[in-house]
Amino acid sequence: MTWVNPLRDEQDRRLPRIAGPCGMVLFGVTGDLSRKKVMPAIYDLANRGLLPPGFSLVGFARRDWADQDFAQIVHDSVREYARTEFREEVWKQLAEGFRFVSGNFDDDLAFDNLRRTIEELDQVRGTGGNHAFYLAIPPGFFGTVAGQLKEHGLAEAGTGAWRRVVVEKPFGHDLESARQLNATLDTVFEPESIFRIDHYLGKETVQNILAMRFANTMFEPLWNANYVDHVQITMAEDVGIGGRAGYYDGIGAARDVIQNHLLQLMSLVAMEEPSSFDAASLRVEKQKLLGSVVLPERLDLTTARGQYAAGWAGGEKVRGFLEEDGIATTSTTDTFAAVTLHIDNRRWAGVPFYLRTGKRLGRRVTEVAVVFKRAPHQPFSANATEALTHNTLVIRVQPDEGMTIRFGSKVPGTAMEIRDVNMDFAYGGSFTESSPEAYERLILDVLLGDPPLFPRHEEVELSWKILDPVLEHWTKQDAAGRARPETYPPGTWGPASADTVLARDGRVWRRP
Ligand code: BG6
Repeated sequence: MTWVNPLRDEQDRRLPRIAGPCGMVLFGVTGDLSRKKVMPAIYDLANRGLLPPGFSLVGFARRDWADQDFAQIVHDSVREYARTEFREEVWKQLAEGFRFVSGNFDDDLAFDNLRRTIEELDQVRGTGGNHAFYLAIPPGFFGTVAGQLKEHGLAEAGTGAWRRVVVEKPFGHDLESARQLNATLDTVFEPESIFRIDHYLGKETVQNILAMRFANTMFEPLWNANYVDHVQITMAEDVGIGGRAGYYDGIGAARDVIQNHLLQLMSLVAMEEPSSFDAASLRVEKQKLLGSVVLPERLDLTTARGQYAAGWAGGEKVRGFLEEDGIATTSTTDTFAAVTLHIDNRRWAGVPFYLRTGKRLGRRVTEVAVVFKRAPHQPFSANATEALTHNTLVIRVQPDEGMTIRFGSKVPGTAMEIRDVNMDFAYGGSFTESSPEAYERLILDVLLGDPPLFPRHEEVELSWKILDPVLEHWTKQDAAGRARPETYPPGTWGPASADTVLARDGRVWRRP
């Protein structure tokens, strides 16, 4: 007998998912995010034939630009950052739908103008009243812009049409501010029309965590405290803060990356199997998982933070964090952060999850390493297994996307000597398709109204609940003048205190 799960989406996944008639309004067109990610992704989607023919893009900014000036900005960004090749005919068709509205966020005339522009596009481009408002702007302005959209009748769609809002992190800087931000957005848009972007969820390798865990039989039986010793989640960057002092100072590595990307990764790695992959079922499981996370009592022994010092990276002399333009010489902002978390459920009882992130580290790498317990018994002489460490499954999120399984194997020869070997899966070797950029997937999902990859406000708030005590602990240390983030030389794996956190548990960080 065949059983049908009514929750399951029965759509044929071999059909391309193409957005219906719609447009997008982009706030913050001059920022890095728009230039490096959003604009190129829109072009790449158009180039892949996934946008409707009349798609329109309205830029909104203070500049005194004409439509052509805006088109030139998009053109430059596409030429520099798009993933797919530049095709004149695709560009021309896309650019016909570009408009620019000049104004401040509190300028009523500009928002009236925006409304007229959208109405005109509905007429001439057939966008059908369907528009997404992408707020690629500092969160301090979310409230003003959302209020303006409401006041000028832009937030509500006519019958059969939709309006959606897209927001980027940081979703607040602690639980309280995140709640306020969510409340502000909730007064203007329905929860299902709010799309919070955590771009890690748009990455192929991150979505593959679910495929790997739940489409196979060989991993899940081992995925628990009986077999797993601990899990390490690393997001390391070799670059410094670049020109982002204004954003980064006072925010730091833990808020910038652990609160969102790493906790989302952790929830995909550790959650229970959802009853389907629709948004509601997935979010229930992620929420349950985040709600079960607990911190150790001794935060002084189980967390670490650091700041990169001046030194050498990639053969170049580089400045320390405190010498970066726009950073106060007394700043205690963390550029490296590591935390130890536990999950208070049967599956993960006693299994620590170590999360770390940092700038100016040894290399750019994001990975999840599931480190297994040693075999309970080794029928070999002690020196036969001297070079054998823990079986490990490494999900390589980026670069060099793929998975590695490390296990012990006999070294060829007459003696029994067992050593670690690697078995590798690389995307490049198995698939001919190249992976789309995270933003392509996420923007398409917004236009399709497909929400599984977007965290709900409950997840955002739960993540702050986990991180807030750590941040408070560090702030208290600063106030007492007892500690500052420990410096680390560029090109290393962070401060010595991070190693100590694991050493106390008899473990070591991987050096990917
Ligand atoms: C962003 C952080 O969310 O992710 C940045 O704000 C970081 O500080 C970036 O550099 C890294 O993204 P990716 O996709 O290159 O790993």
